[in-house]
Amino acid sequence: MSKVYVFDHPLIQHKLTYIRDKNTGTKEFRELVDEVATLMAFEITRDMPLVEIDTETPIQTAKTKVLAGKKLAIVPILRAGLGMVEGVLKLIPAAKVGHVGLYRDPETLKPIEYYVKLPADVEERDFILVDPMLATGGSAVEAINSLKKRGAKHIKFMCLIAAPEGVEAIQEAHPDVDIYIAALDEKLNDHGYIIPGLGDAGDRLFGTK
Ligand code: PRP
Ligand code: URA
Repeated sequence: MSKVYVFDHPLIQHKLTYIRDKNTGTKEFRELVDEVATLMAFEITRDMPLVEIDTETPIQTAKTKVLAGKKLAIVPILRAGLGMVEGVLKLIPAAKVGHVGLYRDPETLKPIEYYVKLPADVEERDFILVDPMLATGGSAVEAINSLKKRGAKHIKFMCLIAAPEGVEAIQEAHPDVDIYIAALDEKLNDHGYIIPGLGDAGDRLFGTK
């Protein structure tokens, strides 16, 4: 069963409060999402493998550690996931970036896929799938299906706010995919929006309606 990690670091929680605030405008919203994505990337990369090397310090040779060079890919679910990409890349700048384009049909709430582009060597990479919102879970489950169909074997899902319904949907469909979130909210409303949530993440990021 997928594990759920809630990143309760004070900086993440503080910034998330202002992301939720309806009075936060587009520019500040975008900056905060970017900052929280960086902080979450720091936590999510805790298990990255290291190798030992010899390093000449000015004093003597030391046994030191560097990243083992595991190949990574960040995949935003378009469009709101785009808001988290640069923040993650600040810490892992060599990661490749794929894209999965999905939107929720406003009537059925079912995800509709319109674009997929991934790095060539999918089987060899660890994937971090990013999207600010996990609501019904339809989009995340479909995006993970899409990655797996193309050969992805190791996938982590990272989002800002999750509803219990979305967490359950991933756990049921993809028990091998762990979920990394900044907050687990109460539930969904009748329109599939997370309560209390932050509203429509894509619209708030890009200033659309
Ligand atoms: C939002 C959000 C997720 C999805 C979550 O995207 O960014 O992708 O809804 O909902 P779900 O868990 O019920 O599938 P939206 O479909 O509004 O598209 P957008 O990013 O283009 O605004
Ligand atoms: N998508 C959003 O952007 N917000 C929600 O609350 C649910 C889905």
